[in-house]
This record gives sequence, structure tokens and C-alpha cells, in this order.
Amino acid sequence: MSSLSIVPVAGRIGAEISGVRLGGDLPAGVVAEIRLALLSHKVVFFRGQDHLDERSQVAFARLLGEPTAAHPTVPSLDGNDHVLDLDYSGGQKVDRWHTDVTFVDRPPLASVLRAVTVPDAGGDTLWTNTVAAYEHLPAELRDLLDRLRAVHTNQHDYVRIATADDPELARERAEVFASTVFETEHPVVRVHPETGERSILLGDFAKRLVGLSAHTSASLIRLIQEHVTEVENTVRWRWAPGDVAIWDNRATQHRVVHDFGDRPRRLHRVTIAGDVPVGVDG
Ligand code: SIN
Repeated sequence: MSSLSIVPVAGRIGAEISGVRLGGDLPAGVVAEIRLALLSHKVVFFRGQDHLDERSQVAFARLLGEPTAAHPTVPSLDGNDHVLDLDYSGGQKVDRWHTDVTFVDRPPLASVLRAVTVPDAGGDTLWTNTVAAYEHLPAELRDLLDRLRAVHTNQHDYVRIATADDPELARERAEVFASTVFETEHPVVRVHPETGERSILLGDFAKRLVGLSAHTSASLIRLIQEHVTEVENTVRWRWAPGDVAIWDNRATQHRVVHDFGDRPRRLHRVTIAGDVPVGVDG
């Protein structure tokens, strides 16, 4: 019998798992339960994992798959090639709804995010369930999306997003982020390789829809994104230091709530290698 408690946090996405001390030495049965919960709830949360450090976070992530380099362009945390240092301290406002690293041919399967320092209030993270978003579309729109493909790139306009806060910092970040430009095409609807569910694959790196005019493409992406991020599809996590979140990057988008001013906020992310997204026609 399972020692894990798995309690949903919101109606369509997210569950909190307790009764486990994460690390690289978890029994296979426990890992299998966590994987199943992840496939079912899309994002799972663990409180009180303060014993983890960068090395043991990577060792745990390795039980779920092969950790990738921290990021295709952003340097990894000193001394650990697999850890991305997400330090948003100082009021940096840099992200919007996205699925991680969709600008490469094989976007990550999942991410393991650990809270190191968090503000006493604010700085929550939101996730949305892109399978539920697909399933709640009218059939006519699902049929349309099934046939579309999108171009994703990391030529990401940090300056536009962050100008009001710190344009200089935003410019520096944009230069690093797009120091090598990636561009790739994915189906707008991908079939999940493990569950067979269909999900909407867009987010902030999706720049245009193949075969449509720039205007139509931008309007349609905006419309679909509004639907994907409707509050009913989302869950919001209030971080405490030592919390861990794992999300299925093939079935979610996420974003930070930038309401913490210049208070410190630092999390470490380990990303698991994924495969080429496959559309409904294979
Ligand atoms: C991310 O976009 O992977 C990080 C989310 C966060 O910092 O909460």
C-alpha cells in the first residue's frame, strides 16, 4: 500500500504530495507513483524538502529521466551543469505564460523546481493545464487547431516585457537569452507520448502560425492563449523555502506572478530531456 498522500490543489490541475523525502535514493515504486500523479495532475507539489541541495535535486530528477544542460543559452549555476539559477531578485520581470524551451526540436519532458529564497508575500507561480484547455474548446476549433503548426523561437522580447522596471537589465538578459538563435516548428496540438491526450502547444515562444498572415496569426495565437490561461484551467502555488514543484512540460504552461517588487526570489530548476512533439496525424 502507498505511503504517499496525493491531494488535488485545484479542480483541473495540480496536486500536493506528502509522505515522501525526495532524493536520488527513492524506491522504484515511489518514483512510479510520483510519475503517475504527474501524468494525471500535470503539476505536483512537495512541501518541506529543505534537505535538498543542487546535487541531490539533480539526483532526484535523474529518477524521472535524463537531466539536460541547464538551458540552451543561459549559463548554468556555477559548479552544476544541470541547474538553472532562476534569480528574479531585484524586481526583474521577465516571464509570461510559456512552456519551457519550446524553441528547440525536443522541448523538455518535465522540470523540477526547488524554492531556495522566496518573498514573504508574492512571487507565486501559476500553471495551466493545456490538455483541459484543448478539451474545453468547441469541436470546430479543436479541428482547426489540429491542423495548425507554429514557429517557436527564443528571440524573446525581454526589453518589451521589462522596460518599465529595468530596461538595462532586460537588454542584458535578452542578449544572453538570444545569444544563439533557435527556431523550430511544432504542431499546435501535440499528442502526449504517454497518456495519448491532446494538448495545446503554444506559449510565449510561439511567434507565428505557419501559412497564415502575420495579422491573422497574431490574433489567433492571442485568442487561443486567452483560452488556455482561463483561470479554470490553472493552479497557483504559494512558495515556501524547500518546496519542490514538478510539472509535465508536455501538458502545461506556467508563469511567475511579478508582484514581489525588489524582494529576493530565487529558485533552482533541473530540466528533463524530452522528445519531438507529435501532432494528431503522427
Ligand atoms: C520557470 O519559468 O521555469 C520558473 C518559474 C518560477 O520561477 O516560478
